[in-house]
Amino acid sequence: MKINENYLSQKNYVFTEISKRVSDFKQKHPNKRILNLGIGDITRPMDKRLVEVMTNALYEQTNKSTFKGYPPETGYDFLKKAIVKKYEENDISVLNDEIFISNGAGCDVTNILNLFKNVTAVIADPTYPAYLDSNKLCGNDVLLLPLSKQNNYKMLPYGIAENRSYLIYICSPNNPTGATLNYDELKQWVDFANKTQSIILFDNAYESFIEDNSPKSIYEVEGAKTCAIEISSFSKSAGFTNLRCSFTIVPQNLIRQSQNINKMWLRHQCTFFNGVPYHIQKGALFALSSEGQKICQKNINYYKKNVKILKKYLKDLNFEFVSSNNSPYIWVKIPTSQNSWQYFEYLLGKGIVCVPGSGFGEWGEGYIRLSAFATRSDVLAVSKLLL
Ligand code: MLT
Repeated sequence: MKINENYLSQKNYVFTEISKRVSDFKQKHPNKRILNLGIGDITRPMDKRLVEVMTNALYEQTNKSTFKGYPPETGYDFLKKAIVKKYEENDISVLNDEIFISNGAGCDVTNILNLFKNVTAVIADPTYPAYLDSNKLCGNDVLLLPLSKQNNYKMLPYGIAENRSYLIYICSPNNPTGATLNYDELKQWVDFANKTQSIILFDNAYESFIEDNSPKSIYEVEGAKTCAIEISSFSKSAGFTNLRCSFTIVPQNLIRQSQNINKMWLRHQCTFFNGVPYHIQKGALFALSSEGQKICQKNINYYKKNVKILKKYLKDLNFEFVSSNNSPYIWVKIPTSQNSWQYFEYLLGKGIVCVPGSGFGEWGEGYIRLSAFATRSDVLAVSKLLL
């Protein structure tokens, strides 16, 4: 046996590196207040009703008639039915066996690489780091498409050879820039993927932040069912970053090299995964109910207000930044000649945690990302320290 040497040449995962630096800083400055606008982790406490629903579900384990053993690998029917209904409300038809309940979008978007060989991944730069790192760790080829002011931070299928197939990562609203692809732009990707026999991995983690008429699912786009896998999460929409629950749609019509990709993913999940706990899936079910939706929306509005407050500060302080109303993140140009890790250290010295832009890729150099998933008091305190 040989080890996978791709692991040796990789730097730390950016969020791990940030935690390490923050924890070192805290040790040296135990009394310094830390304002956390770094990793996009939720800060609103969980609603009591949601916890009550999950607690009751957990108590079912104490009763002989309601006790449960292993959960079904692809999820309980009750949650799948609620997801089918959610799609139906947007006139999208999704079949029960196209849904795979999982324990996080990050896991599915990386583990899906197990289905393919000789991959060339098409990834935006800057990008959510797990797309790039997972491909590098697997030794895959990567085609990076730079995002900049010139292309409005939007990744589109221009100048890509059409004589082969790709694994195409699309996150819209984009992490970190917030740019959101409209119907026509997504249609260009769907047409490109169908033509080249590529597969789109559509990361839908920030769908609940969309407030304009941009598609909230890749399946709103005609032709997507034959080329796209959609990965959605309860993490940001319902505050499940600790609880862990997500769902991935692999259409039955997604066929490559005469193979049904849905069947392959089923085989994968049955072998590599043991399912999400019953009480967590009950919590996810509640989050999709009308009562749950109202509760979730309150938290999303809270984070959206944070975005507004931060943008006002940045504007008043003459920072250059991009941010759409569809995103919890703000992509800020560094106002000095420091590189993004130097600027990260400079802000950390003041107690502010951000994500250095270069952690999202080379084209992220010169920027930082601020997350609005912070507490309101951290957001209010940050303005006095930014300059
Ligand atoms: C981010 O900060 O980009 C995300 O919250 C991290 C994640 O979802 O893993």
